[in-house]
Amino acid sequence: MKVLQVNSSHPDAAIIAAAAAVLRAGGLVAFPTETVYGLGANALDPDAIERIYAAKGRPAYNPVIAHCLDVEAARGLAAEWPRTAADLAERFWPGPLTLVVRKAGHVPDRLTAGLGTVAIRVPSHPVARALLAEVGFPIAAPSANRFAELSPTTSAHVQKGLADRIDLLLDAGPAAYGIESTVVDVSGAGAALLRPGSIGEDALAEVLGAPLGRPGEHAAETPRPGPGMTARHYSPRAKLLVAPTSELGGLVPDANEGRKVGALLLGEERPAGVTHPLRMPSDPTDYARRLYAALHDLDDEECELILVEEPPRTSAWEAVRDRLARAAHQE
Ligand code: TXA
Ligand code: MG
Repeated sequence: MKVLQVNSSHPDAAIIAAAAAVLRAGGLVAFPTETVYGLGANALDPDAIERIYAAKGRPAYNPVIAHCLDVEAARGLAAEWPRTAADLAERFWPGPLTLVVRKAGHVPDRLTAGLGTVAIRVPSHPVARALLAEVGFPIAAPSANRFAELSPTTSAHVQKGLADRIDLLLDAGPAAYGIESTVVDVSGAGAALLRPGSIGEDALAEVLGAPLGRPGEHAAETPRPGPGMTARHYSPRAKLLVAPTSELGGLVPDANEGRKVGALLLGEERPAGVTHPLRMPSDPTDYARRLYAALHDLDDEECELILVEEPPRTSAWEAVRDRLARAAHQE
């Protein structure tokens, strides 16, 4: 795999042209978005999409997000564009919001895993936008990691998981948000929150003028639980446990000789037995930006166990709490 450094705010035209050539030829390009790095392919080419599934080791029933340059391009993939979609797109695009709508006839079944709906996002990252403008077609892109593993917020994370499996990686430095987009299903009556993200539920509800439903409600069609909806996802290799501060110490195994135990901590306290403590930001946005990198780091240190001090149970922490719960889930 080739890695090209690209300026994150003013991408070099020659590098974008090289990446576009790979995509036009049906190849795979990992590229930065404002949320996490994506693994891109031509969203209208079923064979190219198939290569994404093969590289990730992703089950065929998980649909992929189509990235578009603007609302017009997004509407081109939709059979209908409800008022809810128009209002949310107007307010939050370009940005970390994915909308699920009924798909147009020409959208490949391979993209949507056979569903009648398609997930669409208009990213704000200048590199992603330059690439979309250059190719002129929507780019299918899940997060650029192996199935169920940690999402990548840096190019080093992408290389760790996918190095020999993709053609090109555009490295534009660390991702700004650090967790995946908020996914909202507007394919039925009303709107349902499928995956919490940086755009909080309160902000969505304010635009919609109504509270959001949950998966299965208000949807035209519900997929089998996909990535981000399966309970175990976004997981480090280490076993991960989330608990209130006072209970963390009790979770370190008694016979702890020589074992590496990591921790993501919010306070000053370092529970006994923790060998690799990481102090996390107390602001939820900063915490989200740091989360996957912290877990990647503790995996690299070969920690067997990662203890996570439970963040506050407030709406500002919903996306972080969601990712932690999935990372902690034992199958
Ligand atoms: O921030 C992001 O969304 C990143 C960057 C690269 O854009 N992408 C990402 O893709 O996280 P992925 O494939 O890892 O997650 C896509 C999410 C999953 O939860 C999937 O189930 C859902 O979107 N999804 C995709 N198509 C859908 C559909 N037709 N109906 C319901 N959910 C869908
Ligand atoms: Mg993913």
